[in-house]
Amino acid sequence: MALRFEEITGDNYHECIALEVSPDQANCFYFKSSKPNIMSLAEAYVFKNGSLVLAIYNDDTMVGALFYTPNTNPADPEESEGKAWLTRLMIDKRYQGKGYGRKAMEMLIERVRKEGVTKLGLSYEPYNKVAEKLYLSLGFKNSGMTIGEGQIVAWLEIGFG
Ligand SMILES: CC(C)(COP(=O)(O)OP(=O)(O)OC[C@H]1O[C@@H](n2cnc3c(N)ncnc32)[C@H](O)[C@@H]1OP(=O)(O)O)[C@@H](O)C(=O)NCCC(=O)NCCS
Repeated sequence: MALRFEEITGDNYHECIALEVSPDQANCFYFKSSKPNIMSLAEAYVFKNGSLVLAIYNDDTMVGALFYTPNTNPADPEESEGKAWLTRLMIDKRYQGKGYGRKAMEMLIERVRKEGVTKLGLSYEPYNKVAEKLYLSLGFKNSGMTIGEGQIVAWLEIGFG
């Protein structure tokens, strides 16, 4: 596995938009679509808050994408210093279960740590047990808070070094 992130450009955005999760996983996203990346690109454009959509490549194959925002905390916008927020992670249905989701999360954590982030937050639907297990195994702790329509908010404390 040789995973890497690449920014979305004119050369790869069609491919990014075409990636999809399985129909039953559309419920993982508040807009209930199995093709979530067009929404991530739209939100990054509309909110102009430094959000970044990153394509996840294994060698030359785009296998998924994630969408994160440095220095933001939607649960408490006044308290954003040193925090980053992962809004969305998806691995295309053809490439799930191969370790790409876990590896991409480990790479994101390392990336934001280098950016000076000390807390990485995210939320997930309570019935999304695959995501929950993945996030908790990486050290995320449920905050006891929810956002949106009952999405569980979890935070990872990121140390230095
Ligand atoms: C959640 C998601 C990103 C995980 O990506 P992935 O590449 O399939 O995950 P990995 O192969 O790295 O596996 C991570 C863990 O989940 C487990 N897992 C993956 N798919 C699973 C499935 N369908 N059922 C049960 N466990 C599963 C793996 O066994 C692994 O556990 P381990 O590391 O303890 O062995 C992917 O399934 C996905 O895109 N789902 C739909 C969208 C979503 O839920 N996004 C996250 C919330 S925004």
